[in-house]
Order: sequence, then structure tokens, then C-alpha cells
Amino acid sequence: MYNLPRDILLHQLDVPQSISIYFPAMTESLNEQRRLHEYMASFFNHNETVDTWVHSQEVADQAQQLARQYDQDVEIAVLGGWLHDISTVIPDEHKLELALQWNIEVVEAERQVPFLLHQKLSAWIAKNVFGRNDPALLSAICCHTTLKGHMRTMDKLLFIADKLSWASSDSAPYIALMRQAVERSLDDAIDVYVDYMFGEKGRLAVVHPWMQAARRTLEVEHYYRSLNTLSAPIIWGSVTASFQPIPELTTEQQALISNVSIVPMVGNKVVMIRLTDGRWELPGGTLEPGEWLLDGLRREVVEETGGTLLDYTVFGYFDCRSSSDTPYRPHIPHPQFIRLAGYGQVQLDGQPLNPLDGEQVEIVDVVSMEEAERRFRSTGRHDLADFYRMGYKVWQLDQAEK
Ligand SMILES: [Fe+2]
Ligand SMILES: [Fe+2]
Repeated sequence: MYNLPRDILLHQLDVPQSISIYFPAMTESLNEQRRLHEYMASFFNHNETVDTWVHSQEVADQAQQLARQYDQDVEIAVLGGWLHDISTVIPDEHKLELALQWNIEVVEAERQVPFLLHQKLSAWIAKNVFGRNDPALLSAICCHTTLKGHMRTMDKLLFIADKLSWASSDSAPYIALMRQAVERSLDDAIDVYVDYMFGEKGRLAVVHPWMQAARRTLEVEHYYRSLNTLSAPIIWGSVTASFQPIPELTTEQQALISNVSIVPMVGNKVVMIRLTDGRWELPGGTLEPGEWLLDGLRREVVEETGGTLLDYTVFGYFDCRSSSDTPYRPHIPHPQFIRLAGYGQVQLDGQPLNPLDGEQVEIVDVVSMEEAERRFRSTGRHDLADFYRMGYKVWQLDQAEK
């Protein structure tokens, strides 16, 4: 019935006392086969929740298909299906207790609806009981009900597989639309779900903060893709830069930051700078050796605008690759480096410093976003027009959330 890799092995079963009642003892035949699929079947049987096992296998099947379609790891997809709802056998009061015991953060929405905790508890069990450590698997199980901000492909995939496999799925009006959408892309399928859930008030009894974050990520990604120049590789001399609308950087990425850029703002207007040769330019620049990025940014802001930086919010970064043999400054990472992108308020209380060895700024102007865009585009700087647009959009979303 299910075309699944049955030979995935049960390589660990380390059950803490606090949840041992939910786990069946190993029989001789289970121990002999050591197959995860057999053990899961006996697990749900032991808890008299065979319908959940049927659902879990359907999710695994669906996830497997999507993994093949979208070139993702099939074994992780199947494991996600089998394990994602394992903690639903635990009664709600016990879910809360276990979350506290296992140092899992419980948010207000989960206190109100403890069932929502099952995604986090299932991930904990996958890791600690079954010894599955793959970050993509644990992440996907952990957000299969609510999604989360900056979700990965496997997160989206398992979320969709779960929604498409609900027992009442045929009656859910958005399921048919999701099915069509998933043929186009995972993002389109998620859009259908999010639009439906947020479209009319009251669909969601409580809104989990991760779902809010997921919705926001989708909105930012949509906007980014609508900006034709920013969403394609940009050539700056010998550097090819690809913008990512992701504000969180890994530790390895942070070590590659050698430039900082800013969409400087005064209230709801933007600040633009024009060089003596007539070009409108992007404020910011290269960090000095050992310079902390905010110090570097403050220095650049005062040099180029004469102003004081009041705050800075990162909204993404340019992943830059140089085709030169050597870095353009000896201390910067090469050939790959990162230019950080943010927006921030500045106080214009002076004149550009125009250091002799730097670019010479002739005009510092405070204009509406529309005017800034018009000026950038009229001089062919569609990259900067898009960059300002992106920063401005994220600023607007941040304002709306305050
Ligand atoms: Fe679930
Ligand atoms: Fe499920």
C-alpha cells in the first residue's frame, strides 16, 4: 500500500522513564528486524491510535513524492512523515509537563492550546529517543503545524505533506487549491494555506508567533522576487553580488562580513547621497581591519552624510564573489565576502567629511521613497532603486508590527 523505504533502521531506542508508558517493549521479532517502520506500527498500536499511524504513513508517502519532485532528501522526508505526530499520543497536561522538564520554551499560544506543543515534543523524541540528529529533519518536525520564519525547504515540504494528508482533507476548501499550487511550487502551496487562514478573521483560534513569522517571511520573499534587479545577480565591477532577504546570518557568514550598507532614513523619508561626478550612490562601505561593523557603519555615515547613526536594523545581505586574483583591500575575505544590508534612522547634523582618500559627496538629500526611486532609475541604478525599495518595505512591515 505504501511505497516507502521500509529498510530504514531503528538504530537507537533510548526511552526516558517519564514517557516509557507510551513506548511498547521490544519484542523478539522487533528486536530482530530493527526496522523503524515495524516499531512505529507497534508504537501506535500500543497507544491505540492506529488512525494517527495511517495519517503518518500518508504524510510520509506525500512527503516522499514532494522530495522527489523538489530534489530533496527522500529519507528525511519519510522519517519526517513517520515521526512528526509521535507525541500526539501524550495527553495535553502531560505535554506541558514534559515541555517544562525538557526545557522546551512554551509560548502563550501553546499554554492556551497545548496540542500545539506536539511539534516541539515530536522533534525532541526524534532526536533523543530515536537518535536522529539531522538538523533538517528536526527543524521540519518542529514546525510542521505552524511553520516559522525563514523556513527551509524541508520545513515547507513536511508542512504541505501534513496539510494534504489530513483526515478531513477532502472537506477542507483549500486542499484542492493547495494540490494544484504544489505542482507549481512549495511557496505557492503555502501561500494558499496562509491566505486561507489569515483571510477571514477567526479561522485560527490562536495565532502562534511562528505562524506570524512565517507569514512575514513569505511577504518579504514575495516583495523581493517582485524586484527584478535585486532578485537577480548584480555585477559591481569584478564582483557578482546576490542579495538574500534574510536578516539572520550563520557564524560562518558573520565572519565574511567586510562591507556594510544602509538605507538611511529621517522619519519616513530616505537619505540619498550624490558624488561630485553626478552619481547617486549607496551609503556605507568597507570595514577597516578589526573594526566592529556598527563602528564601521557609524564612520561611513558620518563621512558620507555628515550625520549620526541612531539605529540599524539588518534586512538582508549581499553574498559577493570576486573574480579578481586578489582582494581589493588586503584584509577582506576573498574571493567570497558579505555586504550587510540594513536600514536605520540618522540625524543629519553636519556636513559630509569627504576624506581625501574617499569618495567625495556633493549632495545629501532627504526625499520621499518615490523620489529616491525616480532618481536612481533615471541614472540607471536600478540596483540601488530596488535596494532602497527592499529596505523601505521591511521598515514598513516593522512599523506595522510595533
Ligand atoms: Fe501534527
Ligand atoms: Fe500530522
